[in-house]
Amino acid sequence: MSVIKGFVFDAFGTLLDISSIDQKLVWEFGNKGIELGTTWRSKQLEYSWLCQIMERYQPFSHITRAALQYALNKCAIEVDDRKVTDLANIYGQLPAFEDVAPTLQFLAQRYQLAVLSNGDSRMLQEALSFNKLHDQFDFVLSADEVEQFKPSPKIYELAVEKLEVTKEEIAFVSSNAWDATGAKNFGFRVFWINRKHLPFEQLGVEPDLVLGQLQDLTTNEDIAPF
Ligand code: LAC
Repeated sequence: MSVIKGFVFDAFGTLLDISSIDQKLVWEFGNKGIELGTTWRSKQLEYSWLCQIMERYQPFSHITRAALQYALNKCAIEVDDRKVTDLANIYGQLPAFEDVAPTLQFLAQRYQLAVLSNGDSRMLQEALSFNKLHDQFDFVLSADEVEQFKPSPKIYELAVEKLEVTKEEIAFVSSNAWDATGAKNFGFRVFWINRKHLPFEQLGVEPDLVLGQLQDLTTNEDIAPF
């Protein structure tokens, strides 16, 4: 098995805690906030897959706002455009999980580090800078660069091009099982961060490693010892 030369991370849900969105929505809209948040996230991903299949790329920030509008309509919550924009902009202020910074500092001793995300460049710049993480990475790679969304192989190929290693030399880290499935299908080594103890997707591929939290990357003997 090839030696790992680079770690590539998914952003939303893996490095950045999207559960904080639900807290804001409950604060704004009471119990309706839970249904609103769940509908928003699932529709956001659904729209990215629809746009990919329709070959109608639009930035993830646009899709995120459109998915929010759908969720507001479904929950019969009426707010003005300014409020919709304000709510959608929460993606730029998502907190990183506590173990992200120390894990990145540990891995940076030996590996190239990159983010590979559906997020458009502005979203990623904002969210990573908000958490003072942007400079931890050698590359911050956005779907914008190839106008393809995950799990298209074309977006994962971007990491191979930029890191100048083979796909087998890249360890891809995601908490999103569908993304981990796409990355494994492409040919990366895949570490699935299963914080919520969920079952994996049933599409005929399995992650190489299942970890309960990101910092397990620093203590797992399967990762080339330092
Ligand atoms: C990302 C979302 C889809 O690509 O998790 O960051």
